[in-house]
Amino acid sequence: QIYADAKDASRAVAQEIADLIRAKQKEGKNCVLGLATGSSPKTVYAELIKMHREEGLSFKNVVSFNLDEYYPMQPDSIHSYVRFMREQLFDHVDIPKENYFIPDGTVPSALIADFAQRYDNKMNAMGGIDFQLLGIGGNGHIGFNEPGSLINSRTRLMTLDHSTRAAAAMEFGGLHHVPKKAITMGVSSIMNAKRVVLLAWGERKAPMIKSSVEGPVSELVPASYLQAHPNVAFFVDTRAASEL
Ligand code: GLP
Repeated sequence: QIYADAKDASRAVAQEIADLIRAKQKEGKNCVLGLATGSSPKTVYAELIKMHREEGLSFKNVVSFNLDEYYPMQPDSIHSYVRFMREQLFDHVDIPKENYFIPDGTVPSALIADFAQRYDNKMNAMGGIDFQLLGIGGNGHIGFNEPGSLINSRTRLMTLDHSTRAAAAMEFGGLHHVPKKAITMGVSSIMNAKRVVLLAWGERKAPMIKSSVEGPVSELVPASYLQAHPNVAFFVDTRAASEL
């Protein structure tokens, strides 16, 4: 889906999410969202907040699982994805506090495998993800599933690529401040989601959008796994689509 700009595309994605939340409400069911961080989804979250304020869109039946968190990371740090999600969405809507889950960047390293297993179990117990929102890294990662991640991978600790850390260096005030690891949901949870929407804005994403959509399915470009998903859409602006 190619749009003139990020705002138009984000409006369409937010509308799709709102429709799903309302449809689930009518059925008396929870709506399980897989949520992403990074700059790309910010405009979608802004639209959802607007719909909450102007149309009374309620998030009371929303349960959400975030893709990833740096490791180690304190939740109150300005770099944490907990803080990001609260600032960009959760604190502005009526989602109950006990309904959102974000990988815990404070788990002692010996307990990460345990934590990861519980994260996956919780997701499965909720019936899996109804709608998964994704960005894409400059190296084709989804969540923090770096190149080399397998299609059946689960929630786990990941060593970040140099290019991923370099992309975050400015935000952290220097490369040496960027964590070397992250806890990420696996590719399998993303592939099991009933609907997947990937967002990409701007020219810098164009080469990876081309490889993901038109290149071979390969673990070297984790987003290319999505070619095998039965219900996926890439929402891109004209600049991210420029190499297609
Ligand atoms: C980080 C996040 C990814 C995100 C990527 C792209 O690596 N863990 O989930 O997709 O950044 O970020 P941006 O949307 O800012 O380009």
